[in-house]
Amino acid sequence: MCGIVGAVSVRNIVPILVQGLARLEYRGYDSCGVAVVADGLQRARSTSRVAELAEQVSASKLEGTTGIAHTRWATHGAPLVHNAHPHFSHGTGLDAASRAGRIALVHNGIIENHDELRAELQGKGYVFQSQTDTEVIAHLIDSRYDGDLFEAVKAALKHLQGAYAIAVFCKDEPHRLIGARAGSPLILGVGQDGLEHFLASDAMALAGVTDQIVYLEEGDVVDVQLGKYWLVDKAHKPVSPAQRPVKTVLAHSGAAELGPYRHYMQKEIFEQPRAIADTLQGVDGIVPELFDGSGSAAGVFKDIDSVLILACGTSYYSGCTAKYWLESIAKIPTQVEVASEYRYRDSVPNARTLVVTITQSGETADTLAALRHAQSVGMTHSLTICNVASSAMVRECELTYITRAGIEIGVASTKAFTAQLAGLFLLTLALAQAKGRLSAAEEARHLKALRHLPTALQAVLALEPQVIAWSEDFAKMENALFLGRGLHYPIALEGALKLKEISYIHAEAYPAGELKHGPLALVTSAMPVVTVAPNDALLEKLKSNMHEVRARGGVLYVLADADSRIESGEGLHVIRMPEHYGELSPLLHVVPLQLLAYHTACARGTDVDKPRNLAKSVTVE
Ligand code: M6R
Repeated sequence: MCGIVGAVSVRNIVPILVQGLARLEYRGYDSCGVAVVADGLQRARSTSRVAELAEQVSASKLEGTTGIAHTRWATHGAPLVHNAHPHFSHGTGLDAASRAGRIALVHNGIIENHDELRAELQGKGYVFQSQTDTEVIAHLIDSRYDGDLFEAVKAALKHLQGAYAIAVFCKDEPHRLIGARAGSPLILGVGQDGLEHFLASDAMALAGVTDQIVYLEEGDVVDVQLGKYWLVDKAHKPVSPAQRPVKTVLAHSGAAELGPYRHYMQKEIFEQPRAIADTLQGVDGIVPELFDGSGSAAGVFKDIDSVLILACGTSYYSGCTAKYWLESIAKIPTQVEVASEYRYRDSVPNARTLVVTITQSGETADTLAALRHAQSVGMTHSLTICNVASSAMVRECELTYITRAGIEIGVASTKAFTAQLAGLFLLTLALAQAKGRLSAAEEARHLKALRHLPTALQAVLALEPQVIAWSEDFAKMENALFLGRGLHYPIALEGALKLKEISYIHAEAYPAGELKHGPLALVTSAMPVVTVAPNDALLEKLKSNMHEVRARGGVLYVLADADSRIESGEGLHVIRMPEHYGELSPLLHVVPLQLLAYHTACARGTDVDKPRNLAKSVTVE
């Protein structure tokens, strides 16, 4: 989704800004731009890739010591050059200073009252050159400007409704950059020599530039100047350095290397054994302290009587899988809700519910809003399973489990999903133990199975050549069905999501028993049916569902266990999973489905890591 980079320095910062944008490319964007103060306001913008922007700035010799840059994911206004950020203030019926244009601004988020602000500012003589909600902020700040940009920004923010992270400069104060956040992340990067400073929406943008990071909190406004910076909080009261300490953040530059892989998604699929090993590192026994954040997990786990899982997309499907574990192993009633629906629904709050948010990024706007909604209706016990320790979600939840999948760059989530499942399985065991439902023998058995997962995953990855053979058939299709039962129904859902997301093939998933209640009507030889068929209690029922497909001429692609007694034949393609894995089998069965989506997308020539219309972190509603 949108990305921000800004800098104040004594050297030319354009290469740093453009490089920062390149590091944010993985989040997804459809246009980009950079602006500096150099003989007035100068900018370059592109609806192509950051590499094209880099060519533009070098051809035009754009240089400056203060500047801002942005990758945009269109919400208001099409992805056209005139809608790309940075936006400049500009007017006709104004005083001379405003007329010429003096404010440059980039923005992540959505301004909800942009229509009324636009009308008001047009009435004052401001001229709009884009269809964006962002441009109103530039004009609004200009309208409040009286020689002090920090004061003008603070005054303007009072009129904004919605979510924002902004970075803004004024040509009349060429060594000053102001940042502010409310609802969208923004960080301050302290330069190595303490002279230059940076703003960014993500520490990744500053990898290799600085690892000294200050995380801004909701409502903070930061004034960045050469050699100094200061902050005020949401009430515009000064914030001491102790309140917003500088943290050393490990640079992620290594993660951006593709190594022998063609795409980040492929690399991340193959990183799963390591991601799970890292996630489980140090887990010697099931203890509530594995989940401590700012509260005590032991106390919370004893107190709660139910679980409410809130998440979006792939993270939602890991929650759907965990529901089976939580109810069958820990015997705790569990509800799983799509975060964007839950936040607007009248639900019945229960103060003894543990609200569990699942999120790779920790910045998904819908999931954050759903958590805040749950808290506002009195559900104060919260826990997050999250892959980014410095994210807003981790800061806002009482308890945390940080998955160690490592940075995930491909828009299609893979290793974060399996790492979430590992974390959720541990949570299940911890809750079962707190409720006296986990014997020492069961604990030992589950831990042994968890520790064997990296090896088991490695064996599943070796199935890649067989999956590639399937993908050659799928690449010619426009539709696909995915079936699963019980614990593996969410895996079928995840397989369908992966396929549609990156290959653009229309894919749906059903619990196999539902087939005859409608979707069977779609089954023809042009509708491949992927079936997740482990040898569990539901296998015989699933076989009946498969017969229903074959009887209608449908072609089956089955992930079966060695002892499932399902043989390849006419219209029936079988890949045998290396071993049966009981409760943890969803972590293994999802891998061939990830590979299937990946290789099908490659065969169709799509942009695997940056699928059309999608973003990595969805920081707007
Ligand atoms: O960062 P999150 O886990 O909160 O993101 C949630 C979804 O946006 C994400 O899982 C999305 O569905 C992925 N593109 C799926 O591959």
